[in-house]
Amino acid sequence: MDKSIRVVEGVHWVGVRHPDLRVFDDLFPTRNGTTYNSYLIEGTEKTALIDTVKEPFAEEFFSKVSEHIDPTKIDIVVVNHTEPDHSGAVAQVLDKNPDVQIYCSKAAENFLKQLLNRSFNAVIVNDGDEVDLGGKTLRFIITPYLHWPDTIFTYLVEEELLFPCDAFGAHYCPDKLFDDEINEFYADFHFYFDCIVRPFKDKVRDALKKCEGLPIKMVCPSHGPIRRSSGQFAIESYARWCAAPSSGGRPKALMAVLSSHGNTRDMANVIATELKAQGVDVEMFALSEMRDDDYRDALEQADVLLIGTPTIQRDAPPHVWHALALISSVTPKAKLGAVFGSFGWSGEAVKMVEQRLTGLKYKLVADGISFRFTPTMENMDVCRSFAEQVAAAVLTEE
Ligand code: FEO
Repeated sequence: MDKSIRVVEGVHWVGVRHPDLRVFDDLFPTRNGTTYNSYLIEGTEKTALIDTVKEPFAEEFFSKVSEHIDPTKIDIVVVNHTEPDHSGAVAQVLDKNPDVQIYCSKAAENFLKQLLNRSFNAVIVNDGDEVDLGGKTLRFIITPYLHWPDTIFTYLVEEELLFPCDAFGAHYCPDKLFDDEINEFYADFHFYFDCIVRPFKDKVRDALKKCEGLPIKMVCPSHGPIRRSSGQFAIESYARWCAAPSSGGRPKALMAVLSSHGNTRDMANVIATELKAQGVDVEMFALSEMRDDDYRDALEQADVLLIGTPTIQRDAPPHVWHALALISSVTPKAKLGAVFGSFGWSGEAVKMVEQRLTGLKYKLVADGISFRFTPTMENMDVCRSFAEQVAAAVLTEE
């Protein structure tokens, strides 16, 4: 069985490796496995754990903790985030010491109650709160939505170590633990960000602001290598990836279109021409050919999303549903939308897509329009009016 690893004096990694994991949470590919990092911090008066591990790995975890302290003597567990890959062994810590104090956010307390279905001693922390373990001070930074509402960062003041849970992590399971002992893992680091953190770019900006000026010697995330020599690189990467969308200049419409027989595309072209005339630039995506990453980038820069869809078999086609599914994987710049399309037998798709956008908290800025087969001159006039309404709404929001 693996052994614990010293991070600095009085701080040990007591996490576990999961090298053969190939899909995380049944959602995200993990071609290089992952680790569940937990840290034991020993002060002269108290001992704290920062997070635990996934439940099936609890035995190995407690074995590592036992190299340093009888687990029944743990005083504090800091729960940076309650997702079970980190909170999975909290119940067993409580079994061993029911009096252990759980330091966490208010949201985490609520989640943990429903994850554990038992009572525990919670200490709710706020921004800047500290606990002194005896020569080792833990300070808490409230960072909601990185990537759950419950998330906090913990900072070890004397050693200048940041424990940001999932943020700055990577699903990557190296033989060694520290970044300066292994090959670079940038692709895994970036892919992890795209899967886990990208939907919360505005929250990342808030968190980075709270960390400004904080001396940080190492970033100790909950997945993947400890960044002993590249903590600043990780932070700067997040700052770059999460920069606020550009502002100024003409607003931009993202138009995502699927057109089986050219009718929806003809409508799109008329709408686009009118939008440009009204002062709104247009970026057009043919949904049958688009690269997901290009579309996701565009969503993060667009002031309005327009979807053009035919109705096929009384439904919107799969490409359209896929484009809608990608919305929750990013931080859209704006949540304004409108829908148009054509149909032959029946025209349900426009209404269905409108309902989906509404469900995603989009505000519809024009009533959807839908025409049978080839749009007439009169239909195209309606398309121009549709574009005028969209432009007016977007320019008003500017
Ligand atoms: Fe690694 Fe959100 O749990």
